[in-house]
Amino acid sequence: MSAHLLSAGGVSGETRHGALRDMFVLGVETSCDDTAAAVVRRRADGGCDILANRVWAQHEDHAAYGGVVPEIAARSHVERLDRTVIDTIADSGVAFGDLDAVAATAGPGLVGGVMVGLTTAKAIALAHSKRLVPVNHLEGHALSARMTEAAPFPYLLLLISGGHTQLISVDGVGAYRRLGSTIDDAAGESFDKTAKLLGLGQPGGPRVEAAAVGGRRDRFAFPKPLDKREGCDFSFSGLKTAVRDAAAGLGAPTGQDIADLAASFQFAAARHLAMRTEKAMTMVEDARAQDKQEEAAPRRLVVAGGVAANCAVKSMLDELCRRRGWAMVVPPPKYCTDNGAMIAWAGAERLAAGLAPPHDAAMALAPRARWPLAPPPAGREIGGGRKGPKA
Ligand code: KG4
Ligand code: ZN
Repeated sequence: MSAHLLSAGGVSGETRHGALRDMFVLGVETSCDDTAAAVVRRRADGGCDILANRVWAQHEDHAAYGGVVPEIAARSHVERLDRTVIDTIADSGVAFGDLDAVAATAGPGLVGGVMVGLTTAKAIALAHSKRLVPVNHLEGHALSARMTEAAPFPYLLLLISGGHTQLISVDGVGAYRRLGSTIDDAAGESFDKTAKLLGLGQPGGPRVEAAAVGGRRDRFAFPKPLDKREGCDFSFSGLKTAVRDAAAGLGAPTGQDIADLAASFQFAAARHLAMRTEKAMTMVEDARAQDKQEEAAPRRLVVAGGVAANCAVKSMLDELCRRRGWAMVVPPPKYCTDNGAMIAWAGAERLAAGLAPPHDAAMALAPRARWPLAPPPAGREIGGGRKGPKA
């Protein structure tokens, strides 16, 4: 570990926290294949300024293997994290000594990578006498929209990433109720697998989106998963199989065939996300009607996670929200995909809400490969889309 990270400097190392003044938090994210760090300021008024944000994507390191290799990811984090943190701190203009806390992803994710980030964050926090805030990566995504957009609680969250696909009622910081989740693949995982199948390379989501640009989304009629099923769970594995069968049926697909397959898959995936989100909207509205609070409560959908960067997905959800009279909030694409700012911000939100663990408990926390943000509804402890490389 670089001595730069540990040498004490700046102002007093005294730990300060609270919601009534500006707070500076360094965030570290290493749960998958992005080595990321950021410094955010949580203003006394609850607003957020992202002072520095660096992401070192590892795509090249994994390219030869067609997917993320956990051991390579962990080694790349070891090689790059110190530099990334030092550069981020320099960009931010905030000295280590001026930080209020260091937040780091403590799970869920590839445990080797999480260990690298969490251990580094612990060392920085100890060396500079700062608080450590271990953050659930999914909470980072869940609160990410609040950095740049107006997204007061409560809201319905559609969390669509490489390892997770969930609909969650977000009632406040730390107050999450899961309404539905995938019973097999995650949304991002299905984009990644489709990209692999079509020979588009990785990262799959952006490659499929780019390939779909010149394609016809109505050429292949892919299924509507769980069409007849109540509730708002998701399923993506059937879509992936349908793409594989359609591609096999073409023999040697042309460039136009690939574009049509990508566009038709993307359309079917976006439609599935919208159809299940609509079910969750109805659940939320019905619950509020029962509580007689439908007038007061806002109808707000927040979309987060890497797949929220996809324009076809966004426009289908936008159409749904307009039809149902809901507002839609989506962070800019660079804060949809993994980043350190959302981890710093979740740490700051926890600190401001008095929900960060005490020093000893935070320091003792071990990295977690699995860490649900919200438990599934009783009797439905299934699936979760945790099989992919992003899990
Ligand atoms: O949130 P994220 O960066 O990492 C996880 O926490 O999983 O999400 C990564 C996932 C990948 O599966 C990636 O293919 C997908 O998000 N993704 C996209 C797009 N950009 C990233 N999927 C569809 N369209 C995109 N433009
Ligand atoms: Zn993520």
